[in-house]
Amino acid sequence: MTTTPTGDSSTAVGRWRSMVEADREQTARVASQQAGGPGQRWSGGRAETFRADPHRVGDPNVDLIASFQRPDQTWLDVGAGAGRLTLPLALNCKHVYAVEAAPPMAAILTEQAAAAEISNVTLIEGRWQDVDAPMADIALCFNVMNFVPDIDLFITKLNQHAHDRVLVVLMKDGPMANVAPFWRLVHGTEPAQPPALAELLAVLWELGFYPDVQMLPPRYRVSKDRETVRMLMADRLGVVPGSPEEGRLELALDELLVPIEGGFAVRGAEWFREALVTWRPQASNTLLTCV
Ligand SMILES: C[S@@+](CC[C@H](N)C(=O)[O-])C[C@H]1O[C@@H](n2cnc3c(N)ncnc32)[C@H](O)[C@@H]1O
Repeated sequence: MTTTPTGDSSTAVGRWRSMVEADREQTARVASQQAGGPGQRWSGGRAETFRADPHRVGDPNVDLIASFQRPDQTWLDVGAGAGRLTLPLALNCKHVYAVEAAPPMAAILTEQAAAAEISNVTLIEGRWQDVDAPMADIALCFNVMNFVPDIDLFITKLNQHAHDRVLVVLMKDGPMANVAPFWRLVHGTEPAQPPALAELLAVLWELGFYPDVQMLPPRYRVSKDRETVRMLMADRLGVVPGSPEEGRLELALDELLVPIEGGFAVRGAEWFREALVTWRPQASNTLLTCV
């Protein structure tokens, strides 16, 4: 398969690519050290925020994914990150193949698996589009796709590697939604937004996949402490220590962080919505021909 060239706005795949590239250019403009692929994006400090106890209970995302699980299954977790879902999954199925492109994320996953004595996880390091991976019963891709430029290759490969089902979770508004209010105050411009749920659905239909879409319950994104928000925003906005932007970020934190139960919400940010987008691999209309 060939990928759609940049700027082909007549296709959903082309529009997706343009949005990813606009986000990348924007990131590169404000912080040249952050330009590039996921290996740079998910650096040490950010990777740490994805660390989670594999044995935790009451996590709605874990419960959602668990509702598709059977003990005899193998799973692929593409963009596994620090293993936030991989490791709880592994406790209740035969094997999980975790594909992860960013070394800091992969390191936390490996460390957490060892600490919890979870041995039925195989880490495959690299970009999903590039790695050799086995087939699995279920292919999971949880909050990963927003920064993937060649989305057609990415989705087609996901579909080809699942026997029973593909499960994708993606945010309705994308990962910039909470960053945008800070961006406006710090940089004084409207940020480019990477593609999100609406763009994914258009891509899937264009590729011939007609998924079931389940909107997950709305919730506020709660940030536990101001320090973590400062670190995340400085990272996303490319704020360099000692710069005028650093002072503006401090003022933006004062203005935008609203104390709520358990931490802070961002003033003016919409409710956080995610969707579960799922299909059976054989449902692609590229495989169903009417004669
Ligand atoms: C927002 S994190 C989510 C991690 C995990 N799924 C979770 O929910 O905790 C996105 C992860 O996807 C990884 N990623 C992004 N593009 C990728 C690609 N093309 N191949 C493999 N991993 C990728 C990133 O390195 C990052 O660790």
